[in-house]
Amino acid sequence: MAQQDVYNQDLLSKVTALCKRRGFIFPSCEIYGGMANTYDYGPYGVMLKENIRNKWLQRFIRSRADIHQIESSIILNPKVWDASGHVANFADVMVEDVVNNKRYRADHIIEDFFEAKGEEVKVDGLPAEELDKMIKDNGILSPDGNEFGPAKKMNLLFKTEIGIVEGEGSEVYLRGEIAQGIFLNFKNVMDSLSPKLPFGIGQTGKAFRNEITKGQFTFRTLEFDLMEFEYFFDPEENDWNELFDYWKEQMHEFAVGDIGLSEERVRWRTHDEDELSHYSDRTEDLEFQFPWGFKESFGLAYRTDFDLKNHEENSGQTLVYTYPQGKKVTPHVIEPSFGLSRMVTTVLCDAYREDEVDGSERVYLDLDAGIAPVKMAILPLVKKGEVMEVAQKIYDELKDKFSCELLESGSIGKRYRKMDEIGTPYCVTVDFDGLEDGTVTVRDRNTAEQKRVKIQELAGLV
Ligand code: GAP
Repeated sequence: MAQQDVYNQDLLSKVTALCKRRGFIFPSCEIYGGMANTYDYGPYGVMLKENIRNKWLQRFIRSRADIHQIESSIILNPKVWDASGHVANFADVMVEDVVNNKRYRADHIIEDFFEAKGEEVKVDGLPAEELDKMIKDNGILSPDGNEFGPAKKMNLLFKTEIGIVEGEGSEVYLRGEIAQGIFLNFKNVMDSLSPKLPFGIGQTGKAFRNEITKGQFTFRTLEFDLMEFEYFFDPEENDWNELFDYWKEQMHEFAVGDIGLSEERVRWRTHDEDELSHYSDRTEDLEFQFPWGFKESFGLAYRTDFDLKNHEENSGQTLVYTYPQGKKVTPHVIEPSFGLSRMVTTVLCDAYREDEVDGSERVYLDLDAGIAPVKMAILPLVKKGEVMEVAQKIYDELKDKFSCELLESGSIGKRYRKMDEIGTPYCVTVDFDGLEDGTVTVRDRNTAEQKRVKIQELAGLV
């Protein structure tokens, strides 16, 4: 069972092909030729994504009395994005090929140029003029070999219109981050639940960004799922550095402990001054080592009181916390933010394996049992008679305890192959021998080893 080394530039195309073949993720609008940077989730993809979401909800919301979950709207009043600074600052610097007008992110063009020469440069957050100068000074051309026009800032927010008459509606934005919905509901949660500081408000849901760069699978898409919370605190009572470090540790435990990412492939990187978002005083990214390099997976930011203060100023509403003794404070926030859609590509890259079993090559996903779409597959050796009845009974008993599948058709080898590729940790085969003594064989996904187990012990395996 020699493991193949698959962690190279070809991995993503293998993962993408597996996702389509096995019903995880499909390119969107495929029958019309597809649409760049959009994907649809198939049955196993939904299960994987929802399992990750549930792990997040469990660690950061359900198991804590101090964090409350909300669900805010996707279409928000444009005043929100003016106040939050996104209309002015939420932009990438773009360059356009002067011949074919294709657009690219200037930072990516420069980083790729230097990477091809074996040098690593980070130019995130540099102003348009500096990126423009780097492109001109180094004679960087477009992927089609043409010159670029001047580098310009382009806003990432998606505009749409409310109203029935075209052109006469009011312009609104789809949310570019889900955090703003949290700040908008700070007062509502305070008024209705009266939480004590420090406390958090969190949510999960879709965000939308006008990304024009080709994103690696679900790593960068136009619409994507986010999971984040704002942890509100009084800076006179809590040291923000301590809270920051506490959440940093929790995020690492979530990535490695709950989701099962390989510890050696995650690291923290601090944003330098130029790179910080307009709202942040300190940001660290939890980066994952993709085959194409270390890239941001989660972000942790100290957003100070930037958002509440700006919304207070722009809305005219008071957004403060009042202590029972009457003292008023505008809370500061630490914001742990998790890209759920990006996480799906992350776990799939981390889990993809190729090896050989009984002389033939196989592919499997070494997913942590907690997030695997199916935990156990029940395979009757024949699909009739007593063997089938026992298999059906086992399935009926286990299906309410955890996600399992009854697979009746195809050779046992083909059925194992399918379950390996969707990352099912255990395959249970019901055969004639077991009818005598109430046992079945359980095959371990990673080792392909089989052992006989009593039927009553199956539930305890997961
Ligand atoms: N509220 C903070 C915020 O939105 P961000 O770093 O812009 O911060 C948070 O985004 C996370 O969302 C990132 O860490 C990344 O995992 C994910 N993300 C950002 N843009 C994305 C895109 N276009 N497609 C998929 N995931 C994306």
